[in-house]
Amino acid sequence: MKELSVNSKNIDTILVLDFGSQYTQLIARRVRESNVYSEILPWDIDESKIKLLNPKGIILSGGPNSVTEAYTPRIPQIIFDLSVPILGICYGMQTLAEQMGGQVISADNKEFGHSELNIHVESAMLKGIDKRLNVWMSHGDQVQDLPDNFKLIASTSTAPIAVMEHESLPIYALQFHPEVTHTDKGQNIIENFILDICNADTAWKMDHLINKRIEEIKEKVKDGKVLLGLSGGVDSSVTAALLHKAIGKKLTCVFVNNGLLRKGEVEEVMQTFKENMNLNVIKSESEEIFLRHLKNIDDPEQKRKIIGRTFIDIFDAEAIKLKEIKFLAQGTIYPDVIESSGSESNEARVIKSHHNVGGLPEEMELDLVEPLRDLFKDEVRKMGVELGIPKEMLERHPFPGPGLGVRIIGEITKEKTKILQHADHIFIEELIKADLYDKVSQAFAVLLPVKSVGVVGDERRYAEVIGLRAVETVDFMTARWAHLPYEFLEHVSNRIVNEIEQVSRVVYDISSKPPATIEWE
Ligand code: XMP
Repeated sequence: MKELSVNSKNIDTILVLDFGSQYTQLIARRVRESNVYSEILPWDIDESKIKLLNPKGIILSGGPNSVTEAYTPRIPQIIFDLSVPILGICYGMQTLAEQMGGQVISADNKEFGHSELNIHVESAMLKGIDKRLNVWMSHGDQVQDLPDNFKLIASTSTAPIAVMEHESLPIYALQFHPEVTHTDKGQNIIENFILDICNADTAWKMDHLINKRIEEIKEKVKDGKVLLGLSGGVDSSVTAALLHKAIGKKLTCVFVNNGLLRKGEVEEVMQTFKENMNLNVIKSESEEIFLRHLKNIDDPEQKRKIIGRTFIDIFDAEAIKLKEIKFLAQGTIYPDVIESSGSESNEARVIKSHHNVGGLPEEMELDLVEPLRDLFKDEVRKMGVELGIPKEMLERHPFPGPGLGVRIIGEITKEKTKILQHADHIFIEELIKADLYDKVSQAFAVLLPVKSVGVVGDERRYAEVIGLRAVETVDFMTARWAHLPYEFLEHVSNRIVNEIEQVSRVVYDISSKPPATIEWE
């Protein structure tokens, strides 16, 4: 996407010069978190772009290379000529040291993980930090000799020069990573640099970013038409709202109802986007096709594949009906990019699995538009709020692409889907009422493939079993089952067996991940 500077609005900007670290986006994000605008440019970008940005300060990122080798990235002269504060982090520190007359060596052992920083001398960079600080290291090389006119500020047991600063110029360098949450007070350290040392204004707001993205989208799309697969999830919803603001009716969204969504979800998505926000949304009522393809299938991976494949076929068919589509928009966000490529610098183009439209005919030659590609989930949510998407929609628990298809254990039928939708709705409704919904990370009901005996009045009933699952997690890689109050569970269970005739029993899942995954299939 073409870089456009926001500096026409004279917003103070911190330039993050990228040397290829997986943390570069995180640095930019931390700067934005303090309401200062930041922009990332590759280290070898044309000088004129850097001048145009007119930065208030420059952060040199880490990177995978070793300055001890020839032909590795170096800081361009323009960075020094601008006479603004500079902060080198990890590789940024090493190349700074090397270029200013110091010496960098390859350490015998790579240091990766926690380390204790001992601060010897006061520094504006470490204002408000105690003499000892828990920091996060990830490096092979380190500075051995200080460059000319630099002084030592802090060390760790393995890195004798872990923080250094110039004696008279505002040039600082850190061997550790203040941008990762494993470093205590990392945000303080970044603020010391951007607010105190660079004196940058905290004037930047989410609407600046929205306006910038709108300009970029207009510039890229021009008069072309754009297609987007809308799922009702946070990322595709925010992408839709942003594109709509930029290009209005030139955006067409396709929303596929696969019959495996939560109760009321189809109506809610159509109401929000088509009726309230006036987006061009084509709803494809495809429940019967999905059911037909899923008939007699009980293997989870098979189900996933069929649901994914059917989605692509339906999406493609809708796309082909539309004329003159030139672009395909996707709600790819930064964590999707890292997961698949390891680094933003790698130009991997990822097609999100759920919206995998890789099956679109090649002759359509669609260009990708991914306006959220460098944002983190919480930033996407904030953008969504500004764009007028209802909060309930943005703060909803994650929902898997195959939907209820992987929560009906065994074969999927219409009847089972209705039962599960109803039970899930009761559980979620009660969580919200009891103010517990936001306290758990994900909660849902599962329909088990067994029947169990129950007694209703004098009558014995051989009926379905519903499992309830609620977990607490930060990253969804590991999770703890949520210790919901017994009274609450009792109330939900009563409502489910009383209101859903086909259910005779409710169980609560008390397994953590690992070994149990969050979903049952
Ligand atoms: P597990 O079950 O692997 O889930 O512990 C971790 C997170 O991923 C979601 N999930 C999926 N999301 N397609 C998706 O888009 C899938 O096939 C899928 N399987 C699991 C799950 O809901 C949880 O948030």
